[in-house]
Amino acid sequence: MNVPNHIAIILDGNGRWAKAQGKPRSYGHVKGCQNLEVICDDMKELGVKYLTVYAFSTENWKRSQDEIKVLMNLFRGYLKKCIKISERNKMRVKIIGDISAFDPDIQKKIRELEEFSKDYTELHFQIALNYGSRDEILRGIRKLVQDAADGKVLPEKIDEQIFENYLDTAGIPDPDLLIRTSGEQRLSNYLLWQLAYTEFYFTDVPWPAFHKPELIEAIETYNARDRRYGGVKEES
Ligand code: FPP
Repeated sequence: MNVPNHIAIILDGNGRWAKAQGKPRSYGHVKGCQNLEVICDDMKELGVKYLTVYAFSTENWKRSQDEIKVLMNLFRGYLKKCIKISERNKMRVKIIGDISAFDPDIQKKIRELEEFSKDYTELHFQIALNYGSRDEILRGIRKLVQDAADGKVLPEKIDEQIFENYLDTAGIPDPDLLIRTSGEQRLSNYLLWQLAYTEFYFTDVPWPAFHKPELIEAIETYNARDRRYGGVKEES
């Protein structure tokens, strides 16, 4: 099996999965969080080098205060536990998104986790928190314009490579495969720049029920595709 170098996942369907079991949405988030731990182990085992997950979008603040509270507490617990997971998998963890919106203790946990894991290279795990692609691009443009005004960058020299250095994902290769769970077929403001050439895989399986067999099925579907990047298809 040819394993993609970088897999991006939109974690969707925690709430619907829980509802289908007659449980509250928070139960779905707890199970979704546990599943994230398992999937990191699976990715490492399969030899995936980069994994980027969409855990909390800039739009998710519109959810009820109760649900946000549950999610923030889950992040707190997970960020702490993730130190062990990163050690186990030799996994570097990086948060993408604007973390300044989180409570100071969450920001501190993020910094500790990133610092702890910074030298690991077996798996690069990016968690998108308070992330929105348009917000990321605008934040990048603000910095770039400032650097141009300060004479650090020449406007005529700005190309894709230079611009990418201003994104939260600087230094991380673009995803090869995007997986979205739970039936929706849209990008929801996720990695709009980075997904330009990525293969998309949509599954009806909700995130808490997406396990290794489902992951392998996604990779096999990806393998069966013919990736062309605008060139001429080779004669087989
Ligand atoms: C989508 O399900 C899930 C989220 C908005 C939150 C994702 C959170 C987790 C997987 C748990 C914790 C993650 C980390 C990084 C600790 P949904 O609530 O949109 O489900 P629905 O579409 O069925 O309502």
